[in-house]
Amino acid sequence: MNVLGIETSCDETSAAVLTDGRIRSNVISSQFVHRKYGGVVPELASRAHQELIVPVVREALGAAHITSSEINGIAVTYGPGLMGALMIGLNFAKALSYGLRVPFIGINHMEAHMVANFIDDPQPRYPFLCLIVSGGHTQLVLVTAPFEKQLLGETLDDAAGEAFDKVAKILGLGFPGGPVVDKLASSGNPHFVEFPRSLLEKDNLDFSFSGIKTSVLYWMREFRKKSKTDDQPVDQRMLSDLCASFQAAVVDVLIEKTCRAARALDVHEIAIAGGVSANSELRRRMGERAKSDGFRLHIPRFEYCTDNAAMIAMTGWMKFDRGDFSNFDLSPVANLPL
Ligand code: KG4
Ligand code: ZN
Repeated sequence: MNVLGIETSCDETSAAVLTDGRIRSNVISSQFVHRKYGGVVPELASRAHQELIVPVVREALGAAHITSSEINGIAVTYGPGLMGALMIGLNFAKALSYGLRVPFIGINHMEAHMVANFIDDPQPRYPFLCLIVSGGHTQLVLVTAPFEKQLLGETLDDAAGEAFDKVAKILGLGFPGGPVVDKLASSGNPHFVEFPRSLLEKDNLDFSFSGIKTSVLYWMREFRKKSKTDDQPVDQRMLSDLCASFQAAVVDVLIEKTCRAARALDVHEIAIAGGVSANSELRRRMGERAKSDGFRLHIPRFEYCTDNAAMIAMTGWMKFDRGDFSNFDLSPVANLPL
């Protein structure tokens, strides 16, 4: 069985082919048009998806060595995400499904991030905890069975990825910020500034990242005032140290809260998902904790962490198996809950 996955919720146009549970192709076209605006511009994202959707799907079929007549089902993101962007992918999928007379299924993008952990072996065993950290979400979820889950905690303000992006902006590092901060932090001193570890002292599983971000902003303002370097670029050494210090604060909170939940619920499998799970420090330190605390850790392969259609195809495959098909009246839902 061949499932075509389509993802257009934000600024990546992606298509993937999965055959009998195995990914055969995963084409991702990132839209660079947003860079000069310092963030994703919704209207530009929709236009770019419209231009890219056909060539990206064609490339994914070609890379998997199948033709459109061999597609048996289509899985497509219908939320959460940017309304116009979602509409392009969903309408394309509906039209193709109608033309080919194959079923289609709407997929929740955040659920698909979690399912990315099932693409490669070993797959998580139930129950497992999943820390979802992306540009718009930070959630800690207990997954008890396929598509059965319970939200344990979430961010009260900024998402983890959003904090990376905002701090990168404060430091003049461009957009998206996560990968640049990650790279600079690798050669920096994480103890250069002790930024706050928000909500760590609280006995709950919620997160807060806007305080850490504001602390970076105030630190920079103070530094510029003292050194009278208003418009000069900050030197590379200090940038690396600031990135490492900020990243250490975020990673500390993410790991502590997740391990606290695992202990409280006596769960021995932990998965991480979403764009921030590509972060090298989070991956490294989670790996260390897995060894010292004795839990099994699952992290998707790098290309399945940030937005991609392979995770959509995989979720579709699991749902098709259950006969969970969608109707043509399915509409995109910008704020679709998990
Ligand atoms: O899951 P994703 O691709 O899109 C959403 O569903 O939001 O996540 C994007 C977020 C961005 O905020 C980006 O800066 C962050 O993931 N990100 C990273 C890294 N790579 C991407 N954050 C930290 N370190 C990284 N290496
Ligand atoms: Zn995402």
